[in-house]
Amino acid sequence: MKHIESGPSETGRPALGVYVHVPFCSVRCGYCDFNTYTADELGEGATRASYADTAISEITMLAGRVAGRPVETVFFGGGTPTQLPATDLVRLLRAVDDLIGLAPGAEVTTEANPDSVDPEVLATLRAGGFNRISFGMQSAVPHVLATLERTHDPANVERAVRWAREAGFDQVSVDLIYGTPGESVEDWRTSVEHALSLAPDHVSAYALIVEQGTAFARKVARGEVVMPDDDETADKYVLADELFQDAGLRWYELSNWAVDGAARCRHNELYWTGGEWLGIGPGAHSYLDRRRWWNVKHPAAYAQRLAAAASPEADGEDIDDATAHVERVMLETRLRRGVRGVGLDSTAMEELLRRGLVTRERNRLVLTLRGRLLADAVVRDLLA
Ligand SMILES: C[S@@+](CC[C@H](N)C(=O)[O-])C[C@H]1O[C@@H](n2cnc3c(N)ncnc32)[C@H](O)[C@@H]1O
Ligand code: SF4
Repeated sequence: MKHIESGPSETGRPALGVYVHVPFCSVRCGYCDFNTYTADELGEGATRASYADTAISEITMLAGRVAGRPVETVFFGGGTPTQLPATDLVRLLRAVDDLIGLAPGAEVTTEANPDSVDPEVLATLRAGGFNRISFGMQSAVPHVLATLERTHDPANVERAVRWAREAGFDQVSVDLIYGTPGESVEDWRTSVEHALSLAPDHVSAYALIVEQGTAFARKVARGEVVMPDDDETADKYVLADELFQDAGLRWYELSNWAVDGAARCRHNELYWTGGEWLGIGPGAHSYLDRRRWWNVKHPAAYAQRLAAAASPEADGEDIDDATAHVERVMLETRLRRGVRGVGLDSTAMEELLRRGLVTRERNRLVLTLRGRLLADAVVRDLLA
């Protein structure tokens, strides 16, 4: 499988990806502020049943802007893509292939909740061209899953991963969250070990973020739950990295580990290394020709625009050199292959080397383990 690096593809342009947002969930987890809606929240003017056709009309509208460029990666994210019938997800993928064109060996991922798939759904997706699946496992500890208000249990995850393998998915990833209130370091070890027992090709592990405006943030504000301190969260990162490494998974981005180069998420790598992408769906962002734009957020507004053959674009911005530099440093610093030193302040780089937060590998600075725990501060110093 080809591994995406920044820079031009065979067409002489940056590698191209397509992101398809599916804004539906059966239940909203209290901590989540993604652009997603339960049936109750959705209101009038948009339905799950009409979503695929609406999104296909957006793909039709945008296809001419990337004419002749093969799509290297497609990522269905949410929300919960598997809230749509698998046949609709396959129809959407076909539309990307028919209207734009998939590159040979394109990576096609869907996110899925562990309790939102069955063998038939997985077989339909695999037969329809999906080759990578990412399950939102989050934890293997029931009280942690309860605090996160997840609807699945650890047995759902085991089953879902087994079914995905049986359906022929080569690449299976699981997402974990650490730092949930009430989660001990031993709870976290249990979750990591459980995840590893599933032999995933890829793991993402994110520290729980308290997103303002969520039900969870209100609980934290009322003192009903208490967030762990930074030291404990750092200990959990170090523990996870150690356990992942012992199991043969290597970090390639701060929150992402893979068994080998072919198991990395090429779609996310495209975001991090200067690729371009079309974002389909309400609230989705696109990036093309140094311009970023984003769609209207609500599925009903999105559907209305497309029904009137109007663009769903809400707004956009041109990315000037200064913004591109800041974004490059922010994203590259998080990568195992490191941030290119070009354009960076040499005094700041020397100071970070002296403090043991980075090492130098040819013309790049690479975070040490201590640096990974202080990555935001490293970025700030590099941009100061
Ligand atoms: C948008 S979700 C989609 C996957 C699927 N709906 C699920 O939750 O299983 C993608 C991932 O974002 C992460 N996530 C969402 N909200 C988060 C938060 N507040 N803090 C940390 N990670 C979060 C979760 O790990 C989740 O698996
Ligand atoms: S974490 Fe996943 S399942 Fe939960 S509300 Fe967010 S997108 Fe939906």
